[in-house]
Amino acid sequence: MQRQKPIGIFDSGVGGLSIVRAIKRTIPDENLIYFADTEFSPYGNKTKEIINQRSEDIINFLINQGCKMVVMACNTATVNSINSLRSKFSIPIVGVEPAIKPAALKSKTGIIGILATEQTLESEYFHFLKSKYSQQVKIETKACPKLVSLVENLNHDNEQAMQITEQYIHPLLSKGCDQIVLGCTHFSFLSILIKNVVGDKAAIIDTAVPVAMEVKKRLQSHNMDKNKRVIGTVEFWTSGDLANVIKSISQLWEQDIKVFKAKI
Ligand code: DGL
Repeated sequence: MQRQKPIGIFDSGVGGLSIVRAIKRTIPDENLIYFADTEFSPYGNKTKEIINQRSEDIINFLINQGCKMVVMACNTATVNSINSLRSKFSIPIVGVEPAIKPAALKSKTGIIGILATEQTLESEYFHFLKSKYSQQVKIETKACPKLVSLVENLNHDNEQAMQITEQYIHPLLSKGCDQIVLGCTHFSFLSILIKNVVGDKAAIIDTAVPVAMEVKKRLQSHNMDKNKRVIGTVEFWTSGDLANVIKSISQLWEQDIKVFKAKI
């Protein structure tokens, strides 16, 4: 019975769809419920207390929807809140954090660049991660608040988006970064544009696939995997304006979809 239950996934808005997409490809038979907290987007300029409270309320909502596991498809929420949330809830919680370790291992120049939200870069956990690898590599960071709103407003594929992306990335390249870490799930939707800006000067590191693999591993180790050769469903929920969210999810998911509204 437990195995048939859905996996709950959430982010401040549509960015976490990049994680949903990777999970869907990795374990297509699982049923998924995605919650876009658009009403409170962005998280990147919110306090740790607000992010904690939103994350806790959303996890309670997902548990009430019958979820067997929760994926925090948001670096900002993960680095600020995952430890305290894991001690509050008994279901497994998987998070996503900036991939400093793989970038440090791959770097040849010994300098890596992290693109993330302000609140991720300011968090205690990010400072801990940074100090863990700072003997190995030099870590340059760039807060990119404008990139989140470009994706939320579906303005991420035009000349203006290219210019804004350049402004964030050029300083990292000129410092010698040869690895650019996408430390925010929204940035996956800008990866082609980021690739165009970066060229062959650096590799781009995205965490969507490793997170999906971790979800698969955790389901198996908890004997929770659905284990049925039937394609799973994906259900979308939001706290935001329905018409806008339907438009943005449909475009990024590349399919016309239905979205339910939840007051959390
Ligand atoms: N997508 C999120 C992340 O991975 C949060 C972006 C935001 O709401 O500021 O950090």
